[in-house]
Amino acid sequence: MTTAIRYYSKFGHSAKMAQVVGEVAGVKPESVATPLTGEVDILFVGAGVFLGKVNGSIREFARTLDPKQVKQVVLFGSSAIIDSPVPQMRKIFEELGFNVAAESFTCRGAMGPLHSGHPDANDLQALRDFATAVLH
Ligand SMILES: Cc1cc2nc3c(=O)[nH]c(=O)nc-3n(C[C@H](O)[C@H](O)[C@H](O)COP(=O)(O)O)c2cc1C
Repeated sequence: MTTAIRYYSKFGHSAKMAQVVGEVAGVKPESVATPLTGEVDILFVGAGVFLGKVNGSIREFARTLDPKQVKQVVLFGSSAIIDSPVPQMRKIFEELGFNVAAESFTCRGAMGPLHSGHPDANDLQALRDFATAVLH
C-alpha cells in the first residue's frame, strides 16, 4: 500500500501528529507546500484551526491534485473550541471529487491555557492506534 502524508500546522501540532502517522506508515510527512507526485492508495491530510477556520493552503493543495491520483483521503486534526477541523477538510476534498474515508481522527489542540499540553502523549497514542488500524 502506498501512503503519503501532508499537513498544515500553524503551531506545530499537526506537524507532531503527522510525525506519528509517518512512523506508522513508514513515510516522511511533508507540509502541504510539498506537491504530491504520482499515485497513492492513502493520503493522510491533517490541520488545526485558527479563528475558526482550516487554513486556505489545504484547499490550495487539494486543488493541485487529481482525485484519480488518490484512492482514499484520510483526515486528522486538532482544535480547541470547535469539535474538529475534519468536517471543513472533508467538504474541501469531497467537493473536488475525492473519496474521503468515513473514519477520521481528532483530538484537542491547545489554545493558550485552554487544553494546555494537547495534543499530549495519550492523544498521540490514540492517533498511532488509528493510523495502525487504517494501514494494517
Ligand atoms: C492563536 C490561536 C487561535 C486559535 N483559534 C482557534 C479557533 O478559532 N477555534 C478552535 O477550535 N481552535 C483554535 N485554536 C486551537 C488550534 O486549532 C489548535 O492549537 C491546533 O492544535 C493547532 O494545530 P496546528 O498547530 O497544527 O495548526 C487556536 C489556537 C491558537 C494558539
